[in-house]
Amino acid sequence: SLNVKDLNGKHVFITGCDSGFGNLLAKQLDQRGFHVIAACLTEKGSRELLACTSLSLKTVILNLTDPSSIANAVEFVKQETDGEGLFGLVNNAGRATPMAPTDWMQIDDFHTILDVNLMGLIEITLKLLPLLKKAKGRVVNVASVMGRLAFLGGGYCLSKWGVEAFSDILRRDMQHFGVKVSIIEPGCFKTGVTSSEVIERDLLRLWNQLTPEVRESYGDKYFVECKAQRFSMKRLCDSDISKVTKCMEHALMAKYPRTRYGSGWDAKFFWLPLSYAPTLLSDMMLRMLLPTPAAIY
Ligand SMILES: NC(=O)c1ccc[n+]([C@@H]2O[C@H](COP(=O)([O-])OP(=O)(O)OC[C@H]3O[C@@H](n4cnc5c(N)ncnc54)[C@H](OP(=O)(O)O)[C@@H]3O)[C@@H](O)[C@H]2O)c1
Repeated sequence: SLNVKDLNGKHVFITGCDSGFGNLLAKQLDQRGFHVIAACLTEKGSRELLACTSLSLKTVILNLTDPSSIANAVEFVKQETDGEGLFGLVNNAGRATPMAPTDWMQIDDFHTILDVNLMGLIEITLKLLPLLKKAKGRVVNVASVMGRLAFLGGGYCLSKWGVEAFSDILRRDMQHFGVKVSIIEPGCFKTGVTSSEVIERDLLRLWNQLTPEVRESYGDKYFVECKAQRFSMKRLCDSDISKVTKCMEHALMAKYPRTRYGSGWDAKFFWLPLSYAPTLLSDMMLRMLLPTPAAIY
């Protein structure tokens, strides 16, 4: 419960601030007196954030799939921190679609997610490490309990499992330099990544691309049930996203931040315990949560 002293005016860089967790965190840290540098994917997101925050909050456009955009954002952070170093890096930006069974996927569908959630995160972290070492700062990486369980098909769980591994390695490597690394593992929250419209639209796109053989092996009923399952998952999502941003704040401000933060009741009481269960049991539970294809063997 002890906080680091003299946090006022320290620089924190947050990715994915157009909406969701990143957007709320940027506003909260701004109110606490941090010097927030908020990376947004769109000009619209940037304008809206600037309109409701103090003059000390700065925004920069960042697309994690574009190396020149990453270089530009890093240069902006260097100028803003002006030799002081960077106290906090919150790697929050991410996307969840395409998300479907493995044999519905093309290799590009994996790239679409991995390039943002994992490779983009690694690239920006590597480029900002000198500034973080200088300030003996903090890195807060957003993974997911779904990633620990590899619950959903597609690149999402792969990317989040990769974030876990990268963070664990980074924590051990950076401990010698006073840089602390924490992982946030949210359960299911109502935000852009859990939007059922986006997930459904993408599911339909993938379904329409399937060969007749694959489509037949799943059956039309599977597709309908898949959509219904995504819809009911959305209804279970928690709308209080401050549960996640409180964990992020703790990871940035506490003298002794935790290595992992499970956020949300579903994460604490269902997904995390299930991730420690024997594979036989977790496979059985997850099979009950997902629809069954027509052609089962
Ligand atoms: N919500 C959940 O239940 C949940 C659970 C576990 C983990 N997470 C993780 O939490 C993090 C934040 O997501 P969220 O739930 O707050 O959803 P969100 O509202 O969709 O936030 C994701 C942010 O990332 C931005 N983004 C997307 N593609 C990008 C790119 N190529 N480059 C830079 N930024 C990009 C989005 O911009 P636009 O808004 O302009 O698209 C948005 O600002 C993500 O890493 C997500 O995987 C969420």
